[in-house]
Amino acid sequence: MVLSSGLSIRAEEEQDWVGVQAVHESAFGRSAEARLVAMLRGQARPVLSLLAENTGVIVGHIMLSPVVLSGHPQRQIMGLAPLAVVPARQRRGIGSALVRTGFEQCQHLGFEAVVVLGHPVYYRRFGFTPAARFGIGCEYDVPEEAFMVVELRSGCLSGVSGKVAYHAAFSAMSRCAPPSRAGKPMQEASQEDGR
Ligand SMILES: CC(C)(COP(=O)(O)OP(=O)(O)OC[C@H]1O[C@@H](n2cnc3c(N)ncnc32)[C@H](O)[C@@H]1OP(=O)(O)O)[C@@H](O)C(=O)NCCC(=O)NCCS
Repeated sequence: MVLSSGLSIRAEEEQDWVGVQAVHESAFGRSAEARLVAMLRGQARPVLSLLAENTGVIVGHIMLSPVVLSGHPQRQIMGLAPLAVVPARQRRGIGSALVRTGFEQCQHLGFEAVVVLGHPVYYRRFGFTPAARFGIGCEYDVPEEAFMVVELRSGCLSGVSGKVAYHAAFSAMSRCAPPSRAGKPMQEASQEDGR
């Protein structure tokens, strides 16, 4: 999908792996998220891995992998993480384009909802609301407002409640972005992370 002046979003391919790793390392200033991407790539099914490319250079990346809602294993829900745009290209709509394209792809795959652990102000623009409003919690101990959900199929979460479990790769990477950074302004979290 071509968005504007040279920016396009497409599925990741094997030859992109090094470039995707570099995006996460530069955006987060550490390697934890890049390692998470590699683990999910190898283990999660299905996994959605999309990148943003500007005139041949990878400038952003998003990954979505299935989560399980306790008591409702038949619900088709994706977890959004991680998401990154290289610092020099942030605040130009690339992250938003990746999220919205990710939603479209999730719908094509038959997924009904997406959860995310992150900054409420950033994710609200995509329709995310606190999952607690649906009686949905997170396996990680995170601020309530930081764990959010959006329905891709209207009404799919009515009468549904439970606790969301992420892919095991997230537990293996328990110091990774979503749980530890949740609820903090992104810049504040960056400083705490030593960047
Ligand atoms: C979060 C991130 C992916 C957003 O990507 P992006 O391409 O900059 O996002 P967009 O251009 O679509 O920005 C949309 C809005 O996000 C906000 N935003 C973007 N980066 C921000 C940041 N670092 N801190 C606070 N707000 C930010 C902007 O206010 C912008 O709103 P505006 O359009 O009203 O100015 C990017 O900043 C990033 O890679 N950050 C480091 C990694 C990270 O924190 N990932 C998310 C983990 S939950």
